[in-house]
Amino acid sequence: MKAIVYHQYGPPDNLKLVEVEKPTPTDDQVLVKVHAVSINGSDKEGLIGKPFYVRMGGLRKPGDPILGSDIAGQVEAAGKNHTQFKPGDEVYGEMGNYHGGFAEYVCTRAKDWALKPDSLTFEEAAAIPQGGVIALQGLRDKGKVQPGQRVLINGAGGSAGTFAIQLAKYYGAEVTGVDNTCKLDFMRSIGADDVVDYTREDFTRKRKQYDLILDLVAYRSAFSYLRALKPGGSYYFVGGSVATLFQILLLGPLIKRMTDKNLRLLAVQRNREDLVQITELCQAGKIVPVIDRRYPLSQVPEAMRYVSDGRAKGKVVIIVS
Ligand SMILES: NC(=O)c1ccc[n+]([C@@H]2O[C@H](COP(=O)([O-])OP(=O)(O)OC[C@H]3O[C@@H](n4cnc5c(N)ncnc54)[C@H](OP(=O)(O)O)[C@@H]3O)[C@@H](O)[C@H]2O)c1
Repeated sequence: MKAIVYHQYGPPDNLKLVEVEKPTPTDDQVLVKVHAVSINGSDKEGLIGKPFYVRMGGLRKPGDPILGSDIAGQVEAAGKNHTQFKPGDEVYGEMGNYHGGFAEYVCTRAKDWALKPDSLTFEEAAAIPQGGVIALQGLRDKGKVQPGQRVLINGAGGSAGTFAIQLAKYYGAEVTGVDNTCKLDFMRSIGADDVVDYTREDFTRKRKQYDLILDLVAYRSAFSYLRALKPGGSYYFVGGSVATLFQILLLGPLIKRMTDKNLRLLAVQRNREDLVQITELCQAGKIVPVIDRRYPLSQVPEAMRYVSDGRAKGKVVIIVS
């Protein structure tokens, strides 16, 4: 089968289209013919090998040479112990180890996957899993967003951020989106009440405070986030630097004891119920899986370049077949 592989951390030029062996499912797995796979921030990070924790699978070079985790496709074969899906089923979901999707076929246990609704295209279904579930768990479960609350999404113009802006609006919040200059109008167009250009302003120094901050690209000190939280407010680290991650993990509990502000990590728990729930909101038209561009499998390097250059608004989807 055809796949896009990389053998060194670095720029999108390291990604090459090659022939590799078609995978064979174990007894617990299904073999899925990939129709579409969307790009997430985790693919960008896996490509360059930063932040450092993405190197857990391979310190010096990628442990798995195929990136791509959000997939929609059709089951071609099922292992003898697999009971959830059968050949012919149209399915979508996220690869457990964030790898494998930039290929014509994947094997997966599909534990957290779901049947693709007929009303969604493969491209739309592939756009939903990772970003949609981050937004749902960050805003509904951790943030418990209430109407009228002030919510800030840092990194709001990317994959998870576009779901988060729309979901926070759906819950009735007043939403601020933070991202680069070229995404400001886009963030407004999907519902942000206020926008901040991170290349010009630091939202933690604007003297505005929020009930909830969902941080998809956390690079600041824990204390700067405290400044931007209302009394009783909560901050959730989703992705960002190792230094910020450790600060939040170590100082968060102390800060909670000394102030009434929460600084925590959102560790997403993949599950089918949440995937289905965010998908139902998409089917009902409450949320749109925003697809900026589509590329064929052979053009994954161009697609990754577009995303890495900071131009992608929402999702970029690779059409595999
Ligand atoms: N905690 C968990 O369990 C979990 C699970 C899955 C994924 N994640 C993590 O979630 C994170 C977000 O994923 P994603 O797919 O939404 O990423 P994404 O699509 O790359 O979106 C990130 C957005 O943030 C913008 N950005 C970059 N630097 C910024 C800054 N300093 N301030 C504000 N915005 C900035 C980016 O714009 P530019 O184009 O300008 O860079 C981009 O629009 C990733 O780090 C991923 O690893 C966490």
